[in-house]
Amino acid sequence: MTILVTGGAGFIGSNFVLDWFEHAGEPVVNLDALTYAGNLRNLASLAGDARHVFVRGDIGDRPLVDRLLAEHRPRAIVNFAAESHVDRSILGPAAFIKTNVEGTFTLLEAARVFVQALELAERERFRFLHVSTDEVYGSLAPGAPAFTEAHPFEPNSPYSASKAASDHLVRAWHHTYGLPVLTTNCSNNYGPYHFPEKLIPLVIVNALAGKPLPVYGDGLQVRDWLYVRDHCSAIRTVLAKGRPGETYNVGGWNEKPNIEIVKTVCALLDEMRPDPAGARSRLITHVKDRPGHDRRYAIDARKIERELGWRPAETFETGIRKTVRWYLDHADWVHEVQSGAYRDWVAANYVAR
Ligand code: NAD
Ligand code: DAU
Repeated sequence: MTILVTGGAGFIGSNFVLDWFEHAGEPVVNLDALTYAGNLRNLASLAGDARHVFVRGDIGDRPLVDRLLAEHRPRAIVNFAAESHVDRSILGPAAFIKTNVEGTFTLLEAARVFVQALELAERERFRFLHVSTDEVYGSLAPGAPAFTEAHPFEPNSPYSASKAASDHLVRAWHHTYGLPVLTTNCSNNYGPYHFPEKLIPLVIVNALAGKPLPVYGDGLQVRDWLYVRDHCSAIRTVLAKGRPGETYNVGGWNEKPNIEIVKTVCALLDEMRPDPAGARSRLITHVKDRPGHDRRYAIDARKIERELGWRPAETFETGIRKTVRWYLDHADWVHEVQSGAYRDWVAANYVAR
């Protein structure tokens, strides 16, 4: 048996593929377009491993997806492929509609046709797992209860609107066509291979370079942080035990304001690699806020615990320490991803702030 993973060269997808093999998973066909966010170096440890078949391509390329399904006959599709950065969606939303909405539609259609032609036993075993985000639920007021799976969708950014649209398509393909889908809505991940356009890796790499640490607005926006390998274990669990048609919220029970995250990272760097120029917190710089910035996300992860027995293994304290250590030990990886295109993005996003 095989599974088809899309977006498996990105941050969470590559962690998932590595984690999958560490847990004796079946062979993986990894379909990834290798946008700026995809990096085969994340999967270097799998070089020469026949269990991993990498295919460079777009989830919106229907003939390619049809061919991969016919050739490999996967028992599941796990869809990570997406444009994932909110700030990029504000500066250029078109790619988000193309991949997150049209791409997911194409995958669903290909899966529908493929599954219809399967024998009954294979059809019953097949799963389409769609990896989504807590951002589809919108923003919470301080003190409001955390998002449950029944919370209405109120997306506020082009990114979250495109993910909400894809979640709706996934739901409809189950309801109308009986496609055996599963959806996970997860909170903010952090950990190894996180592209340094996102808050935690950006703060680590800037702090090590003695550059300003940009905090949007007052820095009191709250996110619920989950170590990436815990997200991977949640996806494995949902794939194995989730009920088709259901959605599962995944979170770390770790709500923290951004400014606290930035200060924690500074303190860990000061401890692990002291800076003769002084405490890294001196680099914190408040900059113009993100337009439409969601104030607070919080995930109520009781359903996945109650029904499937999943809980995160890491606390924020253990996860963030591992993450800072990983970046200190992988300066080559950081250097490689800070290419010309990365510098262009930093200029586009931060110069006007
Ligand atoms: P990422 O941006 O690091 O990686 C996305 C990957 O998808 C890249 O390898 C990229 O090359 C690939 N890709 C993009 N467009 C593609 C296309 N058209 N066809 C094939 N491949 C394509 O993203 P991530 O942070 O790893 O997120 C993965 C998924 O998890 C996304 O669907 C995202 O919405 C969701 N998610 C992310 C987080 C988070 O905190 N990062 C939290 C919850 C959910
Ligand atoms: O909640 C899940 C989502 O988490 C995922 O669906 C997205 O794919 C992922 O990118 C992430 O979205 P956020 O917008 O929350 O992540 P980001 O790391 O971009 O920002 C985290 C918080 O930090 C947010 O409130 C904005 C703020 N921020 C971010 C950057 C890049 C800053 O203050 N300064 C920065 O330079």
